[in-house]
Amino acid sequence: MTSLAAAHHADLLCDAVSRLGSESAFEVLARARALEAAGRHIVHLEIGEPDFDTPEHIKRAGIEAIEQNYSHYTPSAGIPELRDAIAEYAARLRGIAPFKRENVVVGPGGKPIIWNTLSALLDPGDEMVAADPGYPAYASCASYLGAILVPVALRESSEWQLDLDELASRVTNRTKVVVINSPQNPTGGVLTRENLSVVAELAQKWGFIVISDEIYCRNLYDGKFISIAELDGMRDRTIVIDGFSKAYAMTGWRLGYGIMPEGLAHTVALFNNNTFSCVATFVQRAGLAALGGPDEPVQRMTRIFQERRDAIIAGLNSIEGMSCKTPHGAFYAFPNVKAITHDDKDLARFLLEEAGVACLGGSCFGEAGGGYLRFSYANSVENITLALERMREAIPKYAR
Ligand SMILES: Cc1ncc(COP(=O)(O)O)c(C=O)c1O
Repeated sequence: MTSLAAAHHADLLCDAVSRLGSESAFEVLARARALEAAGRHIVHLEIGEPDFDTPEHIKRAGIEAIEQNYSHYTPSAGIPELRDAIAEYAARLRGIAPFKRENVVVGPGGKPIIWNTLSALLDPGDEMVAADPGYPAYASCASYLGAILVPVALRESSEWQLDLDELASRVTNRTKVVVINSPQNPTGGVLTRENLSVVAELAQKWGFIVISDEIYCRNLYDGKFISIAELDGMRDRTIVIDGFSKAYAMTGWRLGYGIMPEGLAHTVALFNNNTFSCVATFVQRAGLAALGGPDEPVQRMTRIFQERRDAIIAGLNSIEGMSCKTPHGAFYAFPNVKAITHDDKDLARFLLEEAGVACLGGSCFGEAGGGYLRFSYANSVENITLALERMREAIPKYAR
């Protein structure tokens, strides 16, 4: 009998594993940490998480919940109080009639909810349309499930709106799901009402479901947030993904949710039941405190992100060979570096190894991200300034 240890890796794994993608930010972070362990100083602009501490009242609620023995299993869709609070908050934020508890499914982050929702929707051969460049988790899950990924370009020339002609030509009656993400990772683009309206019209024409990943909806710098769920006919066609990671600086707590039609919510909760069972009970109590507590910490973090955005965009645009559109949301800058190289991953590697600046190649987010870099500006203005200085010095030495 072949022991697991002796079996050749590839012989052991199921075929679907070969189709899994990964989030490169975690790999670059590991390399950056290894360089730090060897004594190098690195400015971290690779990982997409707020550098702020979780607001005090949320931490207190988590600690008190442990002390009060909130340490048992909960229903797989989440504790009723949290589902109710999310249903109310999410509808209020988007200016729509309240959702019901039954529409809400809580998970350990938005990411597992994305996975479980796609698992509930996609059969092998179904088509899923998603933006390129885009957050890699959608494509990874769809490919694993044997679905067909249909990319649609986001255009730098239109401040990272979806190319609507391309979208219209790519959706058919085979399209099961269209995933949108606004504010967007990695571009920082925010889809306009006009752009969303066309997606909504197509959804009703072709009968597909929209997964609207709105995890950065509180990281918005200009105007009011618009969810596609607000548009006529879209409430029952939209699955909203959101969570606590980015708005409340709670990435490591692992808490997110999906809002969707009741029947689907039931099935997604069944996936929860079959995988992680439920989210840590005291973490759900902390989430309740986040939604019920003061909103000021969220607004303060957004203001600080905006100052950092202004610093990094001005800096990137002053480096020879780089040009960067102003992002309107999230906390990413996505400069075009094609005048330096089209091999963005190699340039990102050079910047890490030679300049001690950790960032990601744009092609980590899809083919259309080739020739761009992604910087997460969830770091102090001081560190951003240092990174810009280092890059200004290093880039002329990059062998094109
Ligand atoms: C677009 C997008 N969606 C979802 C997530 C998932 O976040 P979490 O699982 O921490 O809620 C991320 C995290 O980087 C993201 O960028």
